[in-house]
Amino acid sequence: MTAPIIRTKADLHALTLGWRRAGEVIGVVPTMGALHEGHLSLVAAAKVGCDRVIVTIFVNPKQFNDPKDLEDYPRTENEDARKLARFSVDAIYVPDPDQIYPDGFSSTVSVAGVADELEGEHRPGHFDGVATVVTKLFTQTMADKAYFGEKDYQQLQVVTRLSADLDLGTEVVGCPTIREEDGLAMSSRNLLLSDRARIKAPALNAAMERAKERIEAGEDMTTVLGEAKAQVLAAGFNAVEYLELRAVGTLAAVTTLEGPARLLAAAQLAGVRLIDNIAVG
Ligand code: PAF
Repeated sequence: MTAPIIRTKADLHALTLGWRRAGEVIGVVPTMGALHEGHLSLVAAAKVGCDRVIVTIFVNPKQFNDPKDLEDYPRTENEDARKLARFSVDAIYVPDPDQIYPDGFSSTVSVAGVADELEGEHRPGHFDGVATVVTKLFTQTMADKAYFGEKDYQQLQVVTRLSADLDLGTEVVGCPTIREEDGLAMSSRNLLLSDRARIKAPALNAAMERAKERIEAGEDMTTVLGEAKAQVLAAGFNAVEYLELRAVGTLAAVTTLEGPARLLAAAQLAGVRLIDNIAVG
């Protein structure tokens, strides 16, 4: 069944208020659309964990630090609604831009620490944009639970911190990354890869998996990470922005593997920026 598409916060509020009064658990899956199996796995998890499920679709201009990236971002609303039909979600919230950023909007939510490095360093302002829109989406939907993919591992840590710090009352639930058969992490940006680039793209995950095995086997971390970057470049990527081992949760730098860690990477391939991360240890 196709869910109603809601475009104003007043209409959304009218729905969610009824659900809250009935004591129902509301789940939200925040997205920027161009839905793929990764998003749909979040919807499936929300359907299991909640009485009501709202999927939000909003291409948030404040989290793009490159205007070209914002312009190129795929927008496929009708197709998205069709993909959601089989899940019988309760609402698809596609807010008009002024419902999120009305005239005169001048507030920014900024998370320190966990947002500062990696993506924070390479995409200045990105996490401020994410934190601001997520705060608005949590409050507008009045969600009890929100579902995010581990694919954007740093984002997951940022929104978890944010929701706890600001008492937003929304429990953040992280769900595993969904991959293509060749290991490429599913992402809306994969749609932007040319056929040639798509063939090269799994090399990032392959190099990370090899690095994980070597680190877990006790090899020297600097050597292993240096060689992994070289493998990614040799496979045809244009640049590796970072490929680093960090502590789970805090994302503090790790020099020796002493506990559960995360290997995170961002790399450029033919004009498309790909990110990935995997558990190590
Ligand atoms: O992960 C995304 O798609 C976006 O960053 C999010 C969480 C929907 C905020 O715009």
